[in-house]
Amino acid sequence: MDSPSPKPLYVPGQVPERRFSDEELVWTAEEQQRIDGWVAQYPTSDGAVMKVLWLAQEKFAWLPAEVIKFVAETLGLPYAKVFGVATFYTQYYKQEMGTWVLDVCTCFACQLCGGYDMLHYLEDQLGITKGETTEDGMFSIQEVECLGACGSAPMLQVTNGPYIHNLTAAKCDTLLAGLRAGKVPAFESVTLPQDEDDLGGNRRSDAEAVEAYQTPPVSETIE
Ligand code: FES
Repeated sequence: MDSPSPKPLYVPGQVPERRFSDEELVWTAEEQQRIDGWVAQYPTSDGAVMKVLWLAQEKFAWLPAEVIKFVAETLGLPYAKVFGVATFYTQYYKQEMGTWVLDVCTCFACQLCGGYDMLHYLEDQLGITKGETTEDGMFSIQEVECLGACGSAPMLQVTNGPYIHNLTAAKCDTLLAGLRAGKVPAFESVTLPQDEDDLGGNRRSDAEAVEAYQTPPVSETIE
């Protein structure tokens, strides 16, 4: 991996670099109307913070400090409060991302089913590590917590959109080739219990098989 480490956006004690001017930080009348409608649904404006952050991300593609501040001012909230929400969720992007963001889950179920193998496979295929973006700006990789699809572990999500279930190296290859060709995978609904043969995934029912994964669960790596 020789791609440069991403520049940290938030360094304690340093003022973050601005990416958007004051002239750009305005809502359209239609956007302001939507925001007013969301705020009206809650006793206080705090309730609308996630929706307004989401709208800001749709508008600006990501959430540098000045955009978070813009959202805070819109809602009359302290910057720290909105910053706390934006930085809690990996779904809110705190750095510029590639066209496709691959959110690879390595939480408990995915980890036990080879989630780290899938993460490392994608890193190898793209020549980047998690938190980085390919030089052509096409792919970013994030390691994320549980995305609520543990029954089809290991899995990933594409740019806050479709889930790819029961990941294998072959499925990763197909996904990357498809995205490079501009094909977004269709949303796939998985119903439990699953038929391993039908899915063609790498779920294992025998505990010994866990040892087959190249990257063992974290608990096994702690001395
Ligand atoms: S542990 Fe990966 S989706 Fe729940």
